[in-house]
Amino acid sequence: MSDWDPAQYLKFAGERLRPALDLLARIPVATPRTVVDLGCGAGNLAPMFMQRWPQARLLGVDSSSQMLARARADYPQVAFVQADFATWRPDQPVDVLYSNAALHWLSGHDVLFPALLETVAPGGWMAVQMPRNFAASSHTCVIDTIEQGPWRSRLEPVLRRNPVGTPRDYWRLLHDRTAALDIWEIEYQQVLKGDNPVAEFIKGSWLKQFLDRLEEPERSAFEASYRERVRTAYPPEADGSTLFPFRRLFILAQRAA
Ligand SMILES: C[S@@+](CC[C@H](N)C(=O)[O-])C[C@H]1O[C@@H](n2cnc3c(N)ncnc32)[C@H](O)[C@@H]1O
Repeated sequence: MSDWDPAQYLKFAGERLRPALDLLARIPVATPRTVVDLGCGAGNLAPMFMQRWPQARLLGVDSSSQMLARARADYPQVAFVQADFATWRPDQPVDVLYSNAALHWLSGHDVLFPALLETVAPGGWMAVQMPRNFAASSHTCVIDTIEQGPWRSRLEPVLRRNPVGTPRDYWRLLHDRTAALDIWEIEYQQVLKGDNPVAEFIKGSWLKQFLDRLEEPERSAFEASYRERVRTAYPPEADGSTLFPFRRLFILAQRAA
């Protein structure tokens, strides 16, 4: 996968933080010994973990050297490890395995989720949030741009149209392995500022993997084509703001004792 641009990603830090906080608020643990933030990115969730569980040993795991450089600079007191969560597993079972907006980057959830749950201590919690906005224009415009340009044969093989399953998929996958399981969705009515902000938002996450596979001048042509589509799909309101509804899936699972 291409590397991340923390500055572009954090342009919408407030909108991206809200579901992370909503997930954290639902984890019913008072004093965990170990907390792992899987796909911790720029480490920007570290303050909320340190505030909620000051006594816990916190470890951030991410594969991006750019994101980890930012994380280590901003939070030198936190341990971070560079690893792929397809294969990374903790030395000891953890009390809280938390992952915000990261696991949709990997396929094979039917294997990955049970394997990750196995790394949680009996009675411990796995808490996951993933975007499930892939049927919205923000994401279908990516597909249209890929399919209707000269880059189609190069980008289509890496296009994952439905990286996240339905709530029922995860319930069926995890129900027999858990002592408690809560799955829910929220569609946030995001109100964004600036010119074509939906394009800016998606450029910080899903779009970048495709841009990074193209050389100039195709890279700019691809981005311009996407921007034009998404601008039409999300016209500004009278006050200049742009409404960007965004659906997210939450999974809170307690490992059976
Ligand atoms: C959208 S960012 C989320 C960052 C952070 N959790 C947050 O909520 O701000 C997704 C992160 O997942 C990481 N990631 C994606 N695939 C990964 C993998 N296979 N192993 C480890 N990290 C991965 C990326 O490097 C990126 O930092």
